[in-house]
Formats: sequence, C-alpha cells, structure tokens
Amino acid sequence: MILTTTFVCFCLASAFNYFRTRRQRSRIRNLKGPFTWPLLGSMHKLVFLQPKSFFKRSAEYLQKYGSLSRCWVFHRLFIPLADLELARQLLESEKHLETGYELMRDWLGGGILMCEQDKWQQRHGLISGLFRKENMDSLVELCRQQAEQLQQKLLERADGSEFNAWDIVSPSVLDLIVRTTCGVSPSEDYAKNFLDLTELYRKRFLSLQSANRFNYWLSSPFMRRRQNKLIKRLNEEHKDLINRYRQGQQPKVKISEGLVVDQSKPLPPKWHESLLQILLENQDQELTDQEICAELNTCNYLGFLLCSSALSFALVSIARNPSVQQRCLEELRQAQIKDQVWNLEKLPYLEAVVQETLRLYPPQVIVGRQLKQDFSYTHSVVGDADLPFGSEIYINLYKLQRNESRYAKANHFQGDRFMDSPPELLSYSLGPRSCPARKFSLKLMKILLATILTNFELLPYGDELRLDLRLVLGSSNGFQLALKPR
Ligand code: HEM
Repeated sequence: MILTTTFVCFCLASAFNYFRTRRQRSRIRNLKGPFTWPLLGSMHKLVFLQPKSFFKRSAEYLQKYGSLSRCWVFHRLFIPLADLELARQLLESEKHLETGYELMRDWLGGGILMCEQDKWQQRHGLISGLFRKENMDSLVELCRQQAEQLQQKLLERADGSEFNAWDIVSPSVLDLIVRTTCGVSPSEDYAKNFLDLTELYRKRFLSLQSANRFNYWLSSPFMRRRQNKLIKRLNEEHKDLINRYRQGQQPKVKISEGLVVDQSKPLPPKWHESLLQILLENQDQELTDQEICAELNTCNYLGFLLCSSALSFALVSIARNPSVQQRCLEELRQAQIKDQVWNLEKLPYLEAVVQETLRLYPPQVIVGRQLKQDFSYTHSVVGDADLPFGSEIYINLYKLQRNESRYAKANHFQGDRFMDSPPELLSYSLGPRSCPARKFSLKLMKILLATILTNFELLPYGDELRLDLRLVLGSSNGFQLALKPR
C-alpha cells in the first residue's frame, strides 16, 4: 500500500514537473547534457561533487558535454558555461543582471549581489564611490599601513620553515577591508565571528544539506542556529557603528597605531571616506539599517575572501618562479621613492604578475546569472539560439582563462603575459556587474606584495597546491611556502 502510494505520488510529481518545464525543454533541445531521471533530473552529477574534486569533475563534464550544456536538478535548469563569446554577450547585457547566489541569502540578502534589479544601480554607484579617484590616495595609504603590520607578523615566520600563507595573510586582509568599509578596525570579537561565519559558509558550499533552503532548514538545525547567531552579532556591531555616526560621533582614526574608535578627537585632515559614511550620507534614496548592514557584509565578504585567495596564490606562484621574483625585486628597487614607498605606476611587471595570478587562479571561479527573461545568443559553440527564462547559468572563469586557443601555454605561469599586448582578464567579470573594486584590489595586492618582496625572500618549500573550491578558489593543503629576511 505504502509502496503503491509512493509510486503514484512520484509519478504525479514527475508529470507535474514535466509539464512545468516543457517550455524550457523545448528551447534547449540543441544542448547536450547528462541523463535526466524523472523528477530528480541529473541529481547524481551533483551528489558526488565535492570541493576537492570540483576541478577534476568539471573538466570531465566539459569534456563530455561541451562548453555549453544543460543539467536538470528537479525543476531547476543549470547551464554550465565555458564559451567565451556567449559569456561575454551575457555579462555585457544590461537585461540579465540577476546573480542568484542563493546560498548566501541569510547573510548577504538585501545587499548589492541579491537586491532587486531596480535598487542595484544605486548600490553599484554608491560602492563605486568608495573607490573613486579622490578617495584612492587615502585608501592606498591605508594599504601601506596594513603592509607594515603584515611585515611585522611575517618577521616572526621568517626562519626558513614552511607555513601556510593563508593563515597570516587573511587576518591582515580582513583588517584592511573592514577598515575600508566600516572606517574602523574590527574588534577581536568581530574578526572572530566573521572568520567563523565565513568558515561555516565554506563548509556549506557544495554540500548536499545546503542544496536548498528547505533541506538546510531540516537537516542542519544546529549549524543554522549558529549561523544566524553569528550574523546577528556582526550586524549588532554594524548597527552600533551606524548609531554612532547618526549621533554625530563618527569613529575617528589614529593613523600610526591603526584604527580605533576614538570619539573625542577631530578627524585627521586627510582620511578616507568609508563605505559606511558614503551609505549613510547618500541623499538619493535613504537606505535602511538593514540594507546598510547587507552592503557592509557583502563588501567585507567579497573583499576578504577574494583578496586573501589572490594574495595567497600570488605568494606561492612567485616563490615557485625564482626568475619572476628576481625581476619583481629589480623593478621595486627602481620604483622606490623612499623606504617602503613605491610609485605604483612604475610597477608594470608586478602588476602583470598579479594579473597572471588572477588569470590562472581566478578567486571567484564561477560567475552566476539567473535569467528573468529569455536570452538570445549568437556565435556560440552550438550556434545561435535562446536560453530560456528561469535558467541558472554558471560561467566557469577558471576554464575560460585556461583555454589554449586564447592563452598560449595556458596552464603555465608567465610573468610577462600581461605586459605588452595583455590578453583579456575575466577574473573581475565583465559588463555592468563587473567588480567595482578592480583598481583598488590591484593596488592593494601590489602594495602588500611590494612590502613582502623587498623584506623577504620567498622560498618554494612545502607541498604543491591542491586546488579546491569552497566559495572561492583555494588549496586543500594550504598555501605552503617559507621566508628568509633579505
Ligand atoms: C582580487 C580581488 C577581487 C576579485 C578577483 C573580484 C572579483 C569579482 C567578480 C568576479 C565580481 C562579479 C560577480 C558577478 O558578476 O556576479 C565581483 C563583484 C563585486 N565585487 Fe569584487 N573582486 C575582488 C575584490 C573586491 C573587493 C576588495 C571588494 C570590496 C571591498 C569587492 C566588491 C565587489 C562588489 C560589491 C561586487 C558586486 C558588484 C555588482 O554586483 O554590481 N571586490 N568581484
């Protein structure tokens, strides 16, 4: 009886699902993809997808089904994409701006990545304002201070023994990003909660229990409780700052000792405007406290993880390419204005090395778009056609930037690839939703790397990288290297 009822329910649900997705199916007949079971779709493909095996499995998948394919999971239509022409048409379109990073909704919901399309333009403008030209000199100064603090921390590790660069670099990056967005250094509690929350989300990524909200809600009540508690604590600190600003008690800055909340002293004459200030002083359409928290969370999350990943990969790549390290050092000596200060414009090789790192190791491996209307494409590997409304498209930047037909010796680190006629760099995405912090993050990485390279010799000790994907590109055995003072 139970079996019969289950069977009948399954058939009914399958029929309903079939009926519901018939329009989409009619539009993607030209696409190859894995076998689709009734109702479940190609669930079997996702079940075995793990952070550690992501790259191997996605390479096999692309090999088998091509760079534009389809994969059904229940009623959801996933389109894995590694075709540059189509990716460019999609990313540069003004009509398809929905990102669909559903996993992050509890933490970043209401922020720029997930807000409604009519609010996105304003948010993008406000965040871009943080990185405008007039603010950039002060942000660069902030990076210089942070580089000095990082140098002190690295000094303790510079005994020639190997260590995981992520462990040292990432707390420094967090400090710098929070100073940039909130205008103050994160308290110890804030930093701890933030790191714990990031780690929790990294565990959730690609896990079955997080496949959808309902599943997560049912299967992981303790994790969910902890997650919500951490989000609440971070937002309480944000709201506290917001209230202080509103009461005219802006947190002030002590330049030499790092940022601390100091309500008595006037602002120093030249200081950067933080994102929090920009959001609060925006006259256009006032933001609620919740929306402000969401933007701070989004920028802290993106800035912290993406820059930490990029810097860690850059350090390991430079350590393992001695000629690259030597050439960077010579360039740094020539561009030095005074002790630990460089003319950043005169560091084209270091910038090329950073870009080459970002090409080989794009921190954000996948850029997602959720179609709210049909998307017509041309000149793709499968010709001209439409992708239907409701598709979730996942653009694989890692694969695109290792395409041999576009990048000669694509899997090799070539320091000067971006020097004379630089190839396209997709790691910041393209089009209207591309990263507003591109220039800032390049400067940030150049300053931190310049300080490290002039003070330490990077040694290629320790295990090779083993790439994995846990929200951002990482290495399952860490980023091993060793340092020697120069
Ligand atoms: C190496 C460093 C970085 C890389 C590789 C990077 C990469 C990206 C990529 C690929 C996107 C596009 C996402 C999409 O289209 O869905 C993006 C968007 C964004 N990034 Fe970055 N990013 C970096 C650093 C930062 C930093 C430091 C911040 C802020 C402090 C930041 C803030 C943002 C924001 C707010 C967006 C959303 C823009 C929008 O949706 O309109 N990023 N970034």
